[in-house]
Parts: sequence; structure tokens; C-alpha cells
Amino acid sequence: MTQQQNKFNIDQLVDELKTAALSADAKAQVKSILEQIVKDPGWVAKSIPDYADDDVILFEDDLISIWHCRFPINLSVPAHDHQMVATIAVYQGAERNVLWTRNDSGAIEEKTELTVNAGDVLQLGPDAIHSVRSTDDIDSCAIHVYLGRLSTVKRSLFDTENGVVLPFDDANYQRLVCAEPA
Ligand SMILES: [Fe+2]
Repeated sequence: MTQQQNKFNIDQLVDELKTAALSADAKAQVKSILEQIVKDPGWVAKSIPDYADDDVILFEDDLISIWHCRFPINLSVPAHDHQMVATIAVYQGAERNVLWTRNDSGAIEEKTELTVNAGDVLQLGPDAIHSVRSTDDIDSCAIHVYLGRLSTVKRSLFDTENGVVLPFDDANYQRLVCAEPA
């Protein structure tokens, strides 16, 4: 069942994504569902719940993790991987991505920059490494969908200034995260 055009319902979206995760074509289905949802970003923004926390896990099992992510103004999320397909659908503000790659010697190099504006969907492969900066005028809000159990998978943070790879844990994240204006 698809969303009724006159009323966005987050619970219905979660159900649709859970069903998509069971499909052999999950990656494409998740992207298609999210593209339909955020093509009218204002519709999502005015009807989605006002979550108290910046990161809210709406659903998670071994097949899919569905998060609502709010990045406060000028937040810089340090470079990290996901170890699974990630699909990012922004409905307010923008997520300004830097995509990184590791060269043959293991060093971390900037590959490209890519801004995901409200209304856009970005899909990243399991090996992708990105850092994210929010906008400077409004909190950036998005639905993030991962094809696996994100909260417990072993993944990495990247100290790109010093070329160091670290386990993704709270201590390393807090050390690298930055909320200062660029
Ligand atoms: Fe990410």
C-alpha cells in the first residue's frame, strides 16, 4: 500500500519499508519508496512527529534499520562507513556530504562532494565512507534507511586529518564530531 497523497504517516512508511526489505529487490524498492515520500518535502515536514531526540530508531531488525535523523545547524558528522546499503532521504535543510575513499596504502582521500537537498535521496553502497555537514540556517532532517542492523554492526570512524581508522563507538564519535561553524 502506498501513502495517501493527502496525509503523510510515518508508521505507514515504516511498514512499507519493512515489506520492501523482504524483497530480492530491496535496494531499489527502498530508494523508490523514499523518493516518492520526499518529492514533496514540505508535506513530510509538516506532518512528521516532532521527535525529542536527534537520532530516533523507528524500527530495526536484521534486514533493515529505519532512523529519523536530525542534524542541528552546523553539525559536522565525522567520516564513517555503514557496512550495508544506506539510503538517505532529506526533507528539511540539506546534508552536505564529502565522500572519501581509501587508496592502496590505506590512506583516506577525499573523492567528491555531494549535497543532498530537501527532496533528494542518496543511496550509498556498503563500502562507502562519508562525512556530513548540516546546513547553517535550519536543522537538517531526514529518514535514513540501512539494509541491516546498523546499531550493532562493527563499523569504522575515520580521522581524516590524521589518517587514522577507529572503531565506531560513542567515545570516538564524540571526540571527532564537531558543531563549530566552518
Ligand atoms: Fe552515514
